[in-house]
Amino acid sequence: MGKLTIINHPLIEHKLAIIRNKATDTKTFRENVNEIGSLVTYEITRDLTTRPVEVETPICKTICQVLAKEVVIVPILRAGLGMVDGIQLVIPTAKIGHIGLYRDEKTLLPHEYYVKLPKEIVDATILVVDPMLATGGSAIVAINHIKARGGKDIRFVGLVGCPEGIKALRAAHPDVDIYLVKEDERLNEVGYIVPGLGDCGDRLFGTR
Ligand code: PRP
Ligand code: URA
Repeated sequence: MGKLTIINHPLIEHKLAIIRNKATDTKTFRENVNEIGSLVTYEITRDLTTRPVEVETPICKTICQVLAKEVVIVPILRAGLGMVDGIQLVIPTAKIGHIGLYRDEKTLLPHEYYVKLPKEIVDATILVVDPMLATGGSAIVAINHIKARGGKDIRFVGLVGCPEGIKALRAAHPDVDIYLVKEDERLNEVGYIVPGLGDCGDRLFGTR
């Protein structure tokens, strides 16, 4: 079974308080989501493998370590886009794929409208990024697409999840490690996370 890691850090808690607050404006919301993206990347990538390379410093030759595999970031549109700049700030060489999904407001089932993934996913470490893990349907469908195209080493990177979504994602993709900054209480009757932070896509992009 994949690991569930809840990333705890005072700076992340502070920024989470800002994005949970309904009075936070779009610009501040977007900045803080991205900043949390940067902070969680240290923890998510802690166990990436490295390989030795010889480097010549101004003084002498020495052996250094570089990442052994490429990293591909795959945001689930739209809300996943909100974390990409923050993650890429820390992993500037990462390639980016995109998966566009929206939830039907009544059935809560995800509908696909766009998939574009780099060929490197076959050998890369893949970070599937979506701030919200609610029913888990979007994450499951996104990972289905990635696996169908040969992706194997997959991590899910979210901000706020709930027991229902975590359980569903683990059941569908037991090989995928899940990283969140908070496991909230539950889903409400219309599929929103409680206490959550509302509709993350709308808050990032100023829609509605
Ligand atoms: C939201 C969110 C996730 C999804 C999570 O997307 O960004 O992708 O819901 O819910 P789930 O776990 O129940 O699938 P939404 O469909 O609202 O689209 P948007 O990001 O374009 O706003
Ligand atoms: N998507 C969101 O943006 N927020 C939720 O609480 C659940 C799904």
